Amino acid sequence: MTDTEARADLVARAADAGARVALESFREELTVETKADKTDVVTQIDRDAQRRVVETIHEEYDDPVIGEEEGASKTIPEEGPAWVVDPIDGTNNFVRGLRIWGTSVASVVDGEPVAAATVLPALADTYLAGAERVTLNGDPVRVSSREDPDAFVVDPILLDDAADTAGVDVLAERFGDYRRLGCAQATLAAVASGSLDAAITTVRMHPWDTIAGAHMIHNAGGTVTDLDGEPWRHDSRGLVASNGAAHEEVLAAAQRAAGE
Ligand code: IPD
Ligand code: CA
Ligand code: CA
Repeated sequence: MTDTEARADLVARAADAGARVALESFREELTVETKADKTDVVTQIDRDAQRRVVETIHEEYDDPVIGEEEGASKTIPEEGPAWVVDPIDGTNNFVRGLRIWGTSVASVVDGEPVAAATVLPALADTYLAGAERVTLNGDPVRVSSREDPDAFVVDPILLDDAADTAGVDVLAERFGDYRRLGCAQATLAAVASGSLDAAITTVRMHPWDTIAGAHMIHNAGGTVTDLDGEPWRHDSRGLVASNGAAHEEVLAAAQRAAGE
């Protein structure tokens, strides 16, 4: 097994372990804490799931772990290997009993992803990406082949607060339809597997919200740029992800949604 294969195997097992912890408490009574605003929520289960993911990684590697909850660092090192964890992405869905949430783990080397896993246990969907391909529940997947923006479904993962409604209007006008799944990694995985045609953010996201899914979209034949159309990095401002067929249109819409 190559080092990348070993890391791909471990992201899958670590994400699965975290997802199992969270699934045990799904649709059970939860104490919900708020963070930055009333819809930015967290629970003890987020922390428990992260602990399980970190334990699973540290049984095999001593590398730094970057994670959303306390006890993990927040910045991806420029050099060397590291792991990036969102123990529950889509906590707002999780606490409402909506099934679109999951555990996401990426392995990065020198700031670039080499393997990623997003496990959505309440949907029984597991997306895995190693060095090359992407699988959904074991079957290879690719981005959609749609070329006509009028037929696209685009997800506004996160828009600048001040321009949020205007941004959604831009997408509704330019594309066939829009969806906001409420889980960034599920959204990016859906672009990678062809269920959605594109997804955008107009603000800088945390790496645990994006890096696994961006790696999947690359491997699945899609395009991921920042708001200037430059290749996306985990610390870019904005993320514009598409099947590649009409990336310029998606980029232009994202720029308009950002008020540019
Ligand atoms: C959030 C979700 C949401 C996205 C937010 C994220 P969390 O993550 O992915 O869809 O719009 O920007 O913070 O808080 O549920 O881990
Ligand atoms: Ca998240
Ligand atoms: Ca989270």
